[in-house]
This record gives sequence, structure tokens and C-alpha cells, in this order.
Amino acid sequence: MTRAVCPGSFDPVTNGHLDIVRRAAAIFDELVVATGTNPSKSRLFEPDERLAMLREVCADLPNVTVMGFTGLIVDFCREIDAPAIVKGLRGGNDYEYELPMAQMNQHLTGVETVFLPTHASWGYVSSSLVKEVASLGGDVSSLVPPAVHARLVARLAARAGDEVR
Ligand code: PNS
Repeated sequence: MTRAVCPGSFDPVTNGHLDIVRRAAAIFDELVVATGTNPSKSRLFEPDERLAMLREVCADLPNVTVMGFTGLIVDFCREIDAPAIVKGLRGGNDYEYELPMAQMNQHLTGVETVFLPTHASWGYVSSSLVKEVASLGGDVSSLVPPAVHARLVARLAARAGDEVR
């Protein structure tokens, strides 16, 4: 049985992420979607909220579980006995960013990284852009699952309310 880990910030999970999760779940026996926090990115949702959204949108995938992690991703992979990490690649910038991490992770514990090309429909979609566009009033409803869209709109409205107070 081969278990793989699909790590990310998922702040919030987008349709692009979900496409990678579904396709990875069709390749591996078990897929663990793992939410971590990237300190260099600004955060809109707390870890427990990101976990809840992921669990909701992955509920129909029987071989997918969702977990949070802290520390090194390779240590998490070892803890849950997963020999592989899956990452989606939208293009050259993603490759440049992901390649040294994949090589470092392979060096540290031997965990392998499998890259899946993002489907062309989602090549321009990122959580950061979704948040930016939504915060300025743009329609991102086709870019994230409906449950995520509802939470995103509510969070941004609450934040805008806080700012005018
Ligand atoms: O692609 P993202 O969303 O920025 O990924 C965030 C996350 C938390 C998955 C990533 O930053 C990560 O794997 N952090 C764990 C720390 C770690 O293992 N660092 C060394 C990588 S070689």
C-alpha cells in the first residue's frame, strides 16, 4: 500500500488544489492532505478553519484524510509512514520554488516528491490571488468550492467591518 502526502497552506483550498488532490488520490492507495503554515505568507484563515474546509471538500474521497502538521514535512511523512509527497506545478516558477525543497527532502530522509502538472483550467489560480481579488470585490466563485466561497466572503466582510470600526 502506498501512502502519499499532499502538503500546503490551503489558505483557502482552491479548485486547483482540489484537482491535484483528486488526481493524486486516483494514483496512490491513500492520500493525506496535510495543512501547514508558511510563515512567509499572510494568513486569512486559522489552521483549524483550513482543516475544516479541506475536510468538507474532500468528504467524497474515501482514500483521502486531512491532517494538520507542524515542523518539517519530512518528519510528518515519517510519522505517518508515507514515502512520497505530491505537489502540483502550475509552471516554471512553481518548479523553481519546489525543486530545491524536493531535493532537500529527498536528502533529509529519502522521501520522494511527485509533481503533477496543474490542469490548464487552474494554471492561473492561487490562494493568494483568490484572496486579493475577492478582497477587492472580484468574483472568485468559479475558482473555489462553494463552501469555501461562502466562508471567504463572510471572512472578508467581517474583516472589512473590523477595519471601519
Ligand atoms: O506551498 P505552500 O502552501 O506555501 O506550502 C506550505 C507548507 C507549510 C506545506 C510548506 O511551507 C512546508 O512544507 N513547510 C514545512 C517546513 C519544512 O519542511 N521546510 C523545509 C522544506 S525543504
